[in-house]
Formats: sequence, C-alpha cells, structure tokens
Amino acid sequence: MSVVDQISPSDPIVILTGAGISKESGLHTFRDPDGIWAKHRIEDVATPEAFARDPEKVLGFYNVRRSQMTESGVEPNAAHAALGELEAFWPGGVTVVTQNIDDLHERGGSKNLIHMHGELSRTRCNDCGAIVDGLGDLDPGMTCDNCSAVGTLRPHVVWFGEMPLEMDRILAALADCGLFMSIGTSGNVYPAAGFVQEARAHGAATVELNLEESLGASAFHEARYGPATEVVTGFVAELKARAAQ
Ligand code: APR
Ligand code: ZN
Repeated sequence: MSVVDQISPSDPIVILTGAGISKESGLHTFRDPDGIWAKHRIEDVATPEAFARDPEKVLGFYNVRRSQMTESGVEPNAAHAALGELEAFWPGGVTVVTQNIDDLHERGGSKNLIHMHGELSRTRCNDCGAIVDGLGDLDPGMTCDNCSAVGTLRPHVVWFGEMPLEMDRILAALADCGLFMSIGTSGNVYPAAGFVQEARAHGAATVELNLEESLGASAFHEARYGPATEVVTGFVAELKARAAQ
C-alpha cells in the first residue's frame, strides 16, 4: 500500500529538497560526478575560515553561482511547479524545507518555504548581521550600509561549520506532519539527512523521490527513483487524486 493511501488529506506534509530538484533546471548538484565539489574544495570556498583567509576567492565562487542562477534559461522545472500546485490544493498544508540557495521554489509557486542553508540572492554583513536583498556581485572592498564596516559583506548562505537557519520551525513542522517527502538530496549533510528519522519518530509516513538511492534510503517507508520532473510530478498527481476522495 502506498504512503499516499496511508495519509489523510488533513495531514500536514513536510518536503525536504536538495540540489537534485534543480538539476533539470540547469543548475549543478554538489556530489554528482559533474558536481560543484568535483571542481572546488569545500575548505576553499564554503567555510568561515575560507572567507577570512581569501574573501576574494569565496565571493567570486558565489558570484559565479549567482550569475548561473539568474542566467536566462534557468527556470523552475515541472517538479518545482508540482510542489507549488501541491501547496495550493493540499488541505493539510505543505511546508517546503530546502537546502538549496537558488530561488526556483519561489518562482515555481511555493510560498510556505524555509531556506535552511540561506539564499544566494541575499547578502549579510558578518559584523552587524544586517541582511540586504539583491545586491548582486560582491567584492571585499564593499561597505556595509548599516554599520559602515568594509569587507564584511558575504552571501546570506550557511557555510560548513555554521548553524542551519530556522531549525526550531523545521523541527516543529516535522513533529506535526503526517507525510515527509525527501526530494533530490543525497543524505550526506546533517541535520537535513536526519529529518526522515525525526518525522518517523513522530509517526509520519516517509517517501524518498530521487534519481538514485540516497545514503538514508533504508529509513524511508517508500521510494521512487527517476528524474524529479517525472517522479515528483507523478507522486503529486496521486496526492491530488487522494485529496479529491
Ligand atoms: N532528479 C532527482 N534527483 C536528482 C537529479 C534529478 N534530475 N539529479 C541528481 N539527483 C540527486 C542525486 O542522485 C543526489 O542524490 O540529487 C542528489 C544531490 O545530492 P548532492 O549533490 O549531495 O546535493 P544535496 O543533497 O542538496 O547537498 C546537501 O550539501 O554541500 C552542501 O550546502 C550544500 O545544500 C547542500 C548540501
Ligand atoms: Zn554591517
């Protein structure tokens, strides 16, 4: 029996997404053979120590990723759109918790959205914490408009060794959900990789929708493998039929 038959339309749904959901929109994942960590060392571009040591290199790395995200042709794909539609029709409510720092979920229609690893389109001052939207390319010579510090502006992105954002809100949603869906993530990075156990501990049905088995595959009640634009759209269609029953 599918998890779709086990849940009630009044059950809240929590959906965790990773880089795999944006792959068919043209953005790289991290750990696929052609992934970002095959070309860059995490210690060089995605830690607070790297930013202190070589801000030019770190800001340059994110400037390239930001321009790729805003490039023409990088659009939300059918999986993003299906999650936006699900949020609109599912009676129990939907919370998307994304590890992604791109803006494709917003552009795909998701509204109840938590960016636990931050957002590439936002900039934060390392000194005063002020957050600014849409600054574009960053360089170490820039001044914070809020505290006038120079060289403290960084992407509002969570680096390795830093705490993910909105964990209280995420854990509350996991404690309350009837269905936990994991899409396009390899299960390499905690705390996100542990969310399936958290949801199960509170009695939720769990499903993995991914191109291939993640490291946490055995923790899920059900799994469907294939490109997100196929498996996510198919699963959401079944939820739509379930909501209509
Ligand atoms: N459809 C569905 N899944 C896909 C697709 C696709 N078209 N293409 C790839 N995938 C899957 C891969 O099989 C893999 O399991 O997406 C997953 C991507 O895994 P990662 O590259 O590890 O990305 P992610 O899990 O999001 O990484 C988590 O690690 O580096 C940090 O902060 C970074 O948020 C990131 C975190
Ligand atoms: Zn500042």
